[in-house]
Amino acid sequence: MCSIWRWCVALGVFALGAAAGGGGRLSAERSAVWGPGLRAEAVLPARYFYLQAVDTEGQRFTSSPGENAFQVKITAPDEQFTRVGVQVLDRKDGSFIVRYRMYASYKSLKIEVKTKDKHVAKSPYILKGPVYHENCDCPQEESSVWLEEMSCPQVFPQIQRDLAHFPVVDPDKIAIEIPQRFGQRQSLCHYTIKDNEVYIKTYGEHVGFRIFMDAILLSLTRKVKMPDVEFFVNLGDWPLERKKPPQSLHPIFSWCGSSESKDIVMPTYDLTDSVLETMGRVSLDMMSVQANTGPSWEDKNTTAFWRGRDSRKERLELVKLSRKYPEIIDAAFTNFFFFKHDENLYGPIVKHISFFDFFKYKYQINIDGTVAAYRLPYLLAGNSVVLKQDSIYYEHFYNELQPWKHYIPFKSDLSDLLEKLQWAKEHDEEEYSSLQVSEPKVRDGMEKVQQPDDDLFPCTCHRKK
Ligand SMILES: *[C@@H]1O[C@H](CO)[C@@H](O)[C@H](O)[C@H]1NC(C)=O
Repeated sequence: MCSIWRWCVALGVFALGAAAGGGGRLSAERSAVWGPGLRAEAVLPARYFYLQAVDTEGQRFTSSPGENAFQVKITAPDEQFTRVGVQVLDRKDGSFIVRYRMYASYKSLKIEVKTKDKHVAKSPYILKGPVYHENCDCPQEESSVWLEEMSCPQVFPQIQRDLAHFPVVDPDKIAIEIPQRFGQRQSLCHYTIKDNEVYIKTYGEHVGFRIFMDAILLSLTRKVKMPDVEFFVNLGDWPLERKKPPQSLHPIFSWCGSSESKDIVMPTYDLTDSVLETMGRVSLDMMSVQANTGPSWEDKNTTAFWRGRDSRKERLELVKLSRKYPEIIDAAFTNFFFFKHDENLYGPIVKHISFFDFFKYKYQINIDGTVAAYRLPYLLAGNSVVLKQDSIYYEHFYNELQPWKHYIPFKSDLSDLLEKLQWAKEHDEEEYSSLQVSEPKVRDGMEKVQQPDDDLFPCTCHRKK
């Protein structure tokens, strides 16, 4: 059951390039081009690869050689038109992310990377197809082949830990017991994947968020033949399974875990949605952040920054602290919903600002909302320093993070926050890295989740017999 959860959410590891170097003349031959977007078989909503600028002396650039230093052109040699969107994202550290979203499948694809009319590295790259686009329903029959093609890690420690509580799972049992325990008061989805089709039954009133789960499951079944499997997804904020062994536990997949619960944690709907909708409906994703990290470190504002809604008491405390020490912390509410808005205590509501504008500030404060604040991956992908509140809640990747390496921790009651900010200012030269990556059955009352139509650019799936 484990392998289907090995989603390749695009989280890479990044370090702040602080060293000087490069900056000579950009070399077409010596610059480097690599990544999954150069391989036909790595089907992704938006395919991507990397560019590293290197000068004629062989030194890597550690600052931008210019936003338009590289030109990328993608064409399908056999076609009159190529329906593809391309973006070159300047990470301002000498490297670039190139990503492209295909709106149709092609027999082959030609990727040209140039600087001043000269081909870079081994450009042009020819992807011998078929090169399928995101909506093409053409699953790889062998999941092990697919995992390899996608360069998925062998193990995900968090999922191993979570699954360790469940030596066996009996679909016949959980199909009855989980709805009995949680079906009345919680919002749940009961999924069956059978013969690579997705079926669902929902429980509870508020099941709108199922669209995110449906979307990622359908996207997966278009790419790989999934094993038959039956499982429950919790659509609510809070993890549900609070029993402790030796009591018998129920396997429930949730977006947020906590040290007080035994839910199986998977990437948040926010992350999966931003991956699926990259270069489309969504503007904030793990790659766009990296190209919008604001001014360079020296030019960032040294006041710590926070915006959000009043979803937790500590957030109220943070805003009070900010009003007491406005030079140290700029924290304000964009919305009041959970608590009574007392303007004397918390000041007026302020306008939303673009997430990318957060990175005008050196210090980003991450503080729980109802559960973990789902902005943390994006904050870490920027090049500010993140101060993270100690918390019982976590997303799927938190246990891989190291305090003092990826973020500065502060106490959950905020009692040492000012002290930690002071420390950060006194240790400005220190470098912080930031982290970016029984038998299942179709049950009574389940409906089939349909693949979306792609009438506009239908594709031929060569993998189907
Ligand atoms: C830094 O930000 C604070 C709070 O947003 C603001 O009051 C201050 O003027 C800014 N400082 C500079 C130098 O821009």
